[in-house]
Amino acid sequence: MPCSAFSIGNKWDDLIPQVDECLQPFRLSVSTLQSVSTRLKKDMIRGLGKHTHHRAPVKMLPTFVRATPDGTEKGDFLALDLGGTNFRVLHVRILEDEQRVVKMDSQICAIPQEIMLGHGEKLFDHIAACLAEFLDSHELKGQTLPLGFTFSFPCEQLDIDKSVLIRWTKGFNCSGVEGEDVVRLLREAIHRRGDYDIGSVAMVNDTVGTMMSCGYRDQSCEIGMIIGTGTNACYMEEMRNVKRVEGEDGRMCINTEWGGFGDDGSLRDIQTDFDLVVDKTSLNPGIHTYEKMISGMYLGEIARLVLVKLTEDKLLFDGQVSDALQTPGRFETRFISEIEDTGLENTQRILTELDLNWSLGDVRLVWLVCDTISTRSAQLCAAALATIANRIRNNRGLDHLKTTVGVDGTVFKKHPNFSQQLQATVRLLAPRCDITFLVSEDGSGKGAAMVTAVAQRLALQPVVFEKLLLEAWGPFDLLVALW
Ligand code: GLC
Repeated sequence: MPCSAFSIGNKWDDLIPQVDECLQPFRLSVSTLQSVSTRLKKDMIRGLGKHTHHRAPVKMLPTFVRATPDGTEKGDFLALDLGGTNFRVLHVRILEDEQRVVKMDSQICAIPQEIMLGHGEKLFDHIAACLAEFLDSHELKGQTLPLGFTFSFPCEQLDIDKSVLIRWTKGFNCSGVEGEDVVRLLREAIHRRGDYDIGSVAMVNDTVGTMMSCGYRDQSCEIGMIIGTGTNACYMEEMRNVKRVEGEDGRMCINTEWGGFGDDGSLRDIQTDFDLVVDKTSLNPGIHTYEKMISGMYLGEIARLVLVKLTEDKLLFDGQVSDALQTPGRFETRFISEIEDTGLENTQRILTELDLNWSLGDVRLVWLVCDTISTRSAQLCAAALATIANRIRNNRGLDHLKTTVGVDGTVFKKHPNFSQQLQATVRLLAPRCDITFLVSEDGSGKGAAMVTAVAQRLALQPVVFEKLLLEAWGPFDLLVALW
C-alpha cells in the first residue's frame, strides 16, 4: 500500500485522496497570499500608530537608527550575537581606508537549555563568562572596547544603549528579564565578575545588523530580513508614519517583528491542525504565530507531525511509527533541506537513522511532505516581504521601486529551493518592485559593530553638533545622520 500512495511525475498527480486531504491545507493560492499581505499591511499600520500600537500583534518597533555608515567609521569593536542557534562573541575591525569590516576572530559558546529556560541572572553571568574567556584567549582584556550587542528578540528601544525586552521568543524563556533593560543586565553581570570592563554599548536586532552590514556594500539596502531559527524583517519607514516618535522628517529603521502576525487570531483560516499543535506544545503558546509557520525552529516539528499522521493512517512506513519519529524535536529542520536536496539517498539515510522501515514510495512521499511545508514557508515569507516592498513604494509615491534586501538565516541559506521560491512569489505579489537579495555574511555581528561605530562617530563629533542633533531629534537619537 505505501508504494501506491504516491508516484512522482507532476508532484500532485496520483496522490491518493487521504494524502491529498492531509497536505491540501498547506497549499496557499495566490489570492490567499494576497489576502495575507493585505491583512499584514493593516497590522503594520496598527503597530506604527500611537493609540493602536499597544494592542497590535505586529509591533513595528522604532530602532532609532536613521543612519548608514558614511565611510569614516573605524576601529576595533566587540560584538555579541544572541538569539539564533548559538551565542557568539566576535572581535571586529573596521578599516576606514579600505571601507571594509573585518572579522578578526569569533567564538561560539553553547547555551545549555537549563540556562535558556532558567533565571535571567544566570543567562547574563554565562554571557559575561563567555566574553571573559574570549577576551582572555585573544589578549584583549586590558582594553575597554566598545560593544555591539545583537539581541534578537522584540525590544522596546529607549536609546541606543537602553533596550527593554518585551517578551522572549524562540527557544528562550528566562525569568526576570521581560520588562528589563538588557544592557543594564549585561553590565551588572560584568561588574559582578569585576575582571574586565566594556566601553559604550549599542543594542541592535539581528535584522537591523543585517541591513546595516549589507548597507556598507550596497547603499540601496533598506530592508533586513532573517529566516533562520526565527523570522523577522526591518525596513526604512518614513518618519511621518512613525507616530510613536516625534518628528516628521527623514526615515527611521523599524523592526517589524512580523513573527507576531496572527497572534490576534487573524490567520486562523490558514493555520493547519499541525500548526495548532506546534503552537500549543511550544514554550510560548499564542505568541509568534506567523514565525511558527515559517521559521527553522518549527518547520521540522510540523513535518514530523504530518509524517506521524500519515503513518498512523497507514499511508507511510506500513503503518509503523518508530519511537524516534514519535519524539518531539527529533525530526530536525535541517532534514527538510537535506531531503529536498538532489537525490533520494539523503532521505533514505535520515529515515534509516529514525529507525523507520521505508519503501521507495515512502521516500518519495516524505520528500513531498517536506516540499509542501518548505514551499508554504517561502510563500508566507514572500507575502510579508512583498507587503514591505509595496509599502516602501507607496510611501515614496513611486511607480517602480528598486531596492535591496539584506538576508541572513539558515533556512534561507541552506535550503536548496527556498530562496528561488521566495523570489518567485515576491515577484507575483509585488510586481512593481525590483528586489535584489544580498546574502549577509556574519551580518548580525558585523552590523552590530557598524551600528556601534556610527554611534561612536556621532558621539565624538563636536558638542555643538551633538547638541544640535539632540535638539532636532530628541534624546534617543544619538545614532543620527542622513539616510
Ligand atoms: C524572533 C525575534 C526577532 C528576531 C527573529 C530572527 O522573531 O522575536 O527579534 O529578529 O526571531 O532572529
